[in-house]
Amino acid sequence: MLTPAHSLPLFGPSSFPRRTRVLFSRSCRTVGPGGEGRCAGVEGREAGRGESTNFVTQAPGPAAAFLCALRAGQPLRPGGGGAAERSRRRLQSRRPRRSQGDPELPTRPRARRRAGDVSAGMGRFSLEPLSLPGLALATALLLLALCLRARRTRRPGEPPLIKGWLPYLGVALKFQKDPLNYIKTLQKQHGDIFTLLLGGKYITFILDPFQYPLVLKNHKQLSFRVFTNKILVKVFAIKKLTDNDEMNDELHSCYQLLQGKSLDILLENVIQNLKQVFEPQLLKTTSWETAQLFTFCGSIIFDITFTTIYGNILAGNRRKLISELKDDFLKFDDKFPYLVSDIPIELLGDTKSLQKKLIKCFISENLAKLQGCSEVFQMRQNILEKYYVREDTEIGAHHLAFFWASVANTIPTMFWAMYYLLQHPEALAAVRDEIDRLLQSTGQKKGPGFFIHLTREQLDSLICLESTILEALRLCSSTTSIRFVQEDLTLHSEIKDFHIRKGDLVAIFPLLLHVDPEVFDAPEEFRYDRFVEDGKKKTTFYKRGKKLKCYLMPFGYGASKCPGRFLAVIEIKQLLIILLTYFDLEIIDDKPMEPNYKRLLFGIQHPKSDVLFRYKVKS
Ligand code: HEM
Repeated sequence: MLTPAHSLPLFGPSSFPRRTRVLFSRSCRTVGPGGEGRCAGVEGREAGRGESTNFVTQAPGPAAAFLCALRAGQPLRPGGGGAAERSRRRLQSRRPRRSQGDPELPTRPRARRRAGDVSAGMGRFSLEPLSLPGLALATALLLLALCLRARRTRRPGEPPLIKGWLPYLGVALKFQKDPLNYIKTLQKQHGDIFTLLLGGKYITFILDPFQYPLVLKNHKQLSFRVFTNKILVKVFAIKKLTDNDEMNDELHSCYQLLQGKSLDILLENVIQNLKQVFEPQLLKTTSWETAQLFTFCGSIIFDITFTTIYGNILAGNRRKLISELKDDFLKFDDKFPYLVSDIPIELLGDTKSLQKKLIKCFISENLAKLQGCSEVFQMRQNILEKYYVREDTEIGAHHLAFFWASVANTIPTMFWAMYYLLQHPEALAAVRDEIDRLLQSTGQKKGPGFFIHLTREQLDSLICLESTILEALRLCSSTTSIRFVQEDLTLHSEIKDFHIRKGDLVAIFPLLLHVDPEVFDAPEEFRYDRFVEDGKKKTTFYKRGKKLKCYLMPFGYGASKCPGRFLAVIEIKQLLIILLTYFDLEIIDDKPMEPNYKRLLFGIQHPKSDVLFRYKVKS
């Protein structure tokens, strides 16, 4: 039996969130960093751009449309004269109202409020007028389409093809249920390169680390950009990047500001922001406080990352604003696995309105009210203002996407690093000892008050701490480097040549490498010092007697490797140093913790459930 966690979508409408409803439109209050604003639930138009969104271009596939009708519980009435139709006519006859304080939404009709108003919410995509024979025909066409999609057969020279028996879904459910063992079984049967049908996508997996360079060698045909641009459209409603390589290149050039001297400035800001978060805590009495570990890590990482990149909220109710923004963000992030699938956002409950609300928080006007933004944000904003008018809401979508990249993986990494440390007393003692020695050697006090101030070089010297973070990443990352195949090509692997079809995806899948016993001794164990050797960082790992160039890949591969990895690691190190130095910490829950694989292929996994812990300021 599949548990709910197992039945989550990988790609495509493999399964819907339990409470999937069609609730396209709702008026909502936005509380952004810049204060409160009004955000009308807008459908069929891109907020702030005044142009109609053509839902036909984003129209759901037939399967999604069919499921949409079923999930929405809509009676598909003959003649189309149902309540939804009446409501639409009513809405059409209503004069569009201008919402106050929302000049960029000039003539938008008030939000459609009916959960059942499927056709209204989906623009031109309407199910209402379908009669019963029409529905039967649509169903037949749908089944035909699914069968045709799944009818692909392996051509000579192509990798082994595994498509399962489920049309469209292929082997998605099996894969998600137990990814590691499933892939291991396939590897035994088919070797290191094979193609899977997963939720309507044909993905060729490359498992052997010595074959990873095939992706680099064929970088012209295997595009990271095309793949991410599709995700940016789906998840963040960023449209302009798809046809604007120049803007894309310019935005990429900003990543240099996440390294070198700019990284030193970011580190300084991280320290100041941590001080802002922890100073009030340190003045508190030394009684135990209880919290959920994932929630706790999420709050702090969210707060310090937001403030470090976008600046400080000056309003008196800063904490409340940050907390509300965080809650919305995490709700949205929770839908990420569905958003990257083929399920249209309109079918994901209130996700669309959450997306719009969040984008609005990141528009130029709101971010301009913050104090002390980073260089990387400023440069991105300048570039975006070259390609959009300053008021364009899509600028907010770019910032939301960048912010998502900066916290979505950092939060679970922080969680796992802390969880493993607290579960392994010997690791905790060794890391604390390493930090103490550094603080002593740099003349820093551990007493009351916030004094810790370390440079990047000093942080870099904490190799046990770094090894702990890397080990947490090894155990919990299922990052997959995915590329879109732009034209038919032949991969010349060491074993033989493989033909790959245009339109497919190619994926480097390091999850297997991370738990390969030939590379990592007792791979299922957490060993805090796995990446330490003779008092130095260990960087040599072997497979089949050959040294591996890539042995740990939570940050991706090649030119697209995460540009924020240095910031992520120093942020987590700084936070752990403060927690371990100033606080006593204990896990209370005694349950074993595992990743939930809901974000399989996409970054660091969340735990199956949160875990209770307690902390108090050291006396
Ligand atoms: C532990 C934390 C993090 C992990 C595990 C992580 C992981 C990744 C991965 C796997 C990719 C895709 C690479 C590929 O597919 O080849 C990526 C891309 C990216 N990450 Fe991170 N990341 C983390 C933190 C951050 C932070 C803190 C920032 C920003 C400050 C950031 C900014 C980005 C950006 C902008 C991209 C897109 C790069 C591009 O378009 O070429 N990440 N990250």
